[in-house]
Amino acid sequence: MECCIVSALWYFIPLYLLIHLLFFVRGDSDFTLMWASLVGHRPENKLKGLVVWVTGASSGIGEELAYQLAKCGSRLILSARREDELKRVKRHCLEHSDLQDEDILVLPLDLMERMSHEEKTKTAIQYFGHIDILINNGGRSQRSLFLEASIDVYQALMELNFLGTVSITKQVLPYMTQRGIGSIVTVSSVAGLAGVPLATGYSASKHALQGFFNSLRTELSEYPKVFISTVCPGPVQSQIVHNAFTDELNKPVAVPGDQEYKMPTSRCVHLMLVGIANGVQEMWIAQQPFLLFNYAWQYTPTFAWFLTKMLGRKRVRNFKAGLDADSAYFTKTKTS
Ligand SMILES: NC(=O)c1ccc[n+]([C@@H]2O[C@H](COP(=O)([O-])OP(=O)(O)OC[C@H]3O[C@@H](n4cnc5c(N)ncnc54)[C@H](OP(=O)(O)O)[C@@H]3O)[C@@H](O)[C@H]2O)c1
Repeated sequence: MECCIVSALWYFIPLYLLIHLLFFVRGDSDFTLMWASLVGHRPENKLKGLVVWVTGASSGIGEELAYQLAKCGSRLILSARREDELKRVKRHCLEHSDLQDEDILVLPLDLMERMSHEEKTKTAIQYFGHIDILINNGGRSQRSLFLEASIDVYQALMELNFLGTVSITKQVLPYMTQRGIGSIVTVSSVAGLAGVPLATGYSASKHALQGFFNSLRTELSEYPKVFISTVCPGPVQSQIVHNAFTDELNKPVAVPGDQEYKMPTSRCVHLMLVGIANGVQEMWIAQQPFLLFNYAWQYTPTFAWFLTKMLGRKRVRNFKAGLDADSAYFTKTKTS
């Protein structure tokens, strides 16, 4: 009997490791999320009927979140600054799902106007009665060198990405702790785990979010059904580079570059919804080499510094030459 167990383990363990190696090379998420997508709950079963508030819903990841959540049958609160874009997203949701007009509330909101957040939250609660999931997605990136960028850019990045997110969370969380149930999901970034040249302020704001939500999660341990999740995507197709801060406030990015080689938005959002449906606390969503990058930063920092310096140098060189900085990470165009 003992002999059978030993020989079973002899085959099982290498097979288990081989499967993980294959998934690592071919995969686009961390192992927890990967297993959740293979054997976990399906988003359409877990998210149907839930009230989900998405910030940054007027483009990119937030827009796609709205579309996929609508297909799952979630009721939606859509927020961002541009009301006309939110209405366009709402129309698309209604045309491609079974939702009715009253199932989607368009709630324009500026994350930097913190004084308005209490009233906006009350409006959402009055409309639906409660909020099941808040997805803190709205935010902007950065494309500028620290030596050249105004300090105002750093203030704006922290005000928007960090304090804006904390402020909305501060308003929504008490309703969830009162009910004893709910999820706060925050879109951080690979830049929340690793250092990223040309994005010192952005990376700092996402590191701040990581620290904040990791601490908050522990603080909420007496509410076992209130979940805190952070999502760390690598490069994803969206308007993020186009909308990034530069060295001066209100100065547009000169070369947004081609976004085609990045992870398709629909894939990133699908994995996010799998993670949310399965209560995954931290999700790494990235194609290689970014996934490797995350693991390196987590487990082998010395190797991570080697990679960061090598790729970072290329990224800065591209930027100074007026090329798309992000293309430093890819040797060929990625379309899927
Ligand atoms: N795409 C990537 O490669 C990537 C990678 C890692 C993490 N992320 C994160 O993913 C999130 C979504 O970004 P994205 O890639 O989808 O970029 P995006 O297409 O530029 O979308 C950003 C969204 O944020 C909203 N927003 C910007 N400033 C705002 C403000 N002051 N108040 C309220 N909403 C505001 C924008 O809407 P309005 O302009 O209408 O306000 C827009 O809906 C961000 O947090 C970003 O850091 C993206």
